[in-house]
Amino acid sequence: MNAPATFDPQAFRAALGTFTTGVTIITTRSADGEPIGITANSFNSVSLNPPLVLWSLAKNARSLPAFSSEKYWNVHVLAAEQEALSGRFAAQGSDKFAGVELDDGIGPAPLLPGCTARFQCRTAFQYEGGDHVIFVGEVLAFDNSGHAPLVFQSGQYALAARKPRTELRLAAPPPPECSYTEDLLGYLLGRAHYQMLDTLRRLLSGQQLDEQQFFILSILCIRDNLTLDEINGFVGYTGLKVGAETLQALQQQDLIACEQNAAGTERYVMTAAGREASLHQIALAKAVESEVADKLDAGDVMALKVLLKRLVAATDPGLPDLWAAR
Ligand SMILES: Cc1cc2nc3c(=O)[nH]c(=O)nc-3n(C[C@H](O)[C@H](O)[C@H](O)COP(=O)(O)O)c2cc1C
Repeated sequence: MNAPATFDPQAFRAALGTFTTGVTIITTRSADGEPIGITANSFNSVSLNPPLVLWSLAKNARSLPAFSSEKYWNVHVLAAEQEALSGRFAAQGSDKFAGVELDDGIGPAPLLPGCTARFQCRTAFQYEGGDHVIFVGEVLAFDNSGHAPLVFQSGQYALAARKPRTELRLAAPPPPECSYTEDLLGYLLGRAHYQMLDTLRRLLSGQQLDEQQFFILSILCIRDNLTLDEINGFVGYTGLKVGAETLQALQQQDLIACEQNAAGTERYVMTAAGREASLHQIALAKAVESEVADKLDAGDVMALKVLLKRLVAATDPGLPDLWAAR
């Protein structure tokens, strides 16, 4: 081998990190029966026939002696919800398996539940790989749950949102500068919002509540006992201004009640009937969401929510936090 090139290690690591991967936990069991596991994203497929996979382990890893001597190891492709587990198995010194229930595998290596896919392997080859050891394993068994996978990109966890197989019209020739485009963020958000709201509105039409009343009930359902000003603080982002007459209409329907404290401040609380109406609305809102989720795929919905939350935070004019603990 020629003398190795001298790279800036950080720049080299950063460039390698652009290769986006899934995240795995690889487990084995030491000769004295101790469960061993580490987080690894160096996993890759090698061969279909025979079925072979590989991964590499740092020579300074505490688990090296166990992986070098034990024949059986399991690769767990982590699901998007398993980020905390990934962190746990990437940290040295902690009891990585504390509280983790294991499935039965074909060999002695621990088999973790709740993953996207799992490969139960036996070491076929072991190679020197600089500061790492490369393990090539023969796959003895595998399973695939179809859960959305956890992704690792440039040193950060990420979610995978699939591009559609058929080209979206985003690739259409660019329109003249002065015109609206089909991929203008405001248009996309607005259209998605109205389309989803329309479905919900049709489902809610049986309840005889208008949009404002729906918003008020959903706010009181999350945070009861609010003044009119506080209610307006929470619905402000919709552009709607709740007036006393809307609250009176809800009172007449016995969905909310007004309570006055000693200082004469009026606070609105939900009645039992209001709570029931609200539960019905929540069920409908969830039905609309699950209908959309079926069309988009669970992983894409998760990625969409993360991006929307970032957008909400980035455009927040400083609204009170409806979800904050009181
Ligand atoms: C996303 C991610 C991927 C990782 N990939 C690898 C890898 O492929 N090989 C490796 O040796 N360490 C990898 N690590 C680091 C190990 O998980 C970490 O050093 C662990 O503490 C080693 O455990 P041990 O010393 O108990 O064996 C990765 C860490 C993270 C967070």
